[in-house]
Amino acid sequence: MKNISILSLLAVFVLATSFTFIQPKPWPVPDKNAKIPNPIKADAASVSAGKTLWVQHCSSCHGKTGAGDGSKAAQLKTQPEDFKKPVVQGQSDGSLFYKIAEGRDDMPAFKKKIPDQEDIWNLVNFIRSLKK
Ligand code: HEC
Repeated sequence: MKNISILSLLAVFVLATSFTFIQPKPWPVPDKNAKIPNPIKADAASVSAGKTLWVQHCSSCHGKTGAGDGSKAAQLKTQPEDFKKPVVQGQSDGSLFYKIAEGRDDMPAFKKKIPDQEDIWNLVNFIRSLKK
């Protein structure tokens, strides 16, 4: 009996660790953040402001066009998704804002480095422009 419970604990452990390492880790965004609408119109000025920030802070990992092929990309433990794809484009503006502000693992949190929320919304608008 004792052996069985140790075995099942072991099985749970092995499953949990392989899930963590093999599966791409889902990145849940709290509902209230995901639903925040983008207050900044995605006009040429906003996209261009976002692009300037992108080149300064983001392209070293995410690449110029968001493909995930920046100069630092090879050193990352987690590979960023291609930002042109629906996995990223399908997320709400509020979700992208949250991920940029809060970060996770290799993705730095930018809420201190880019303290003006408007700038983060400009980045979201720039990311949307990568779709085409
Ligand atoms: C040091 C490398 C690095 C830099 C610099 C960086 N990122 Fe990331 N980013 C990552 C990695 C790695 C992930 C994937 C993280 C994960 O899934 O745990 C990621 C994920 C993201 C995501 C979530 C994408 C998804 O699949 O849901 C967004 C949005 C994002 N980054 C935007 C930005 C923006 C905007 C900047 C610049 C302000 C930036 N990143 C700078 C490495 C970086």
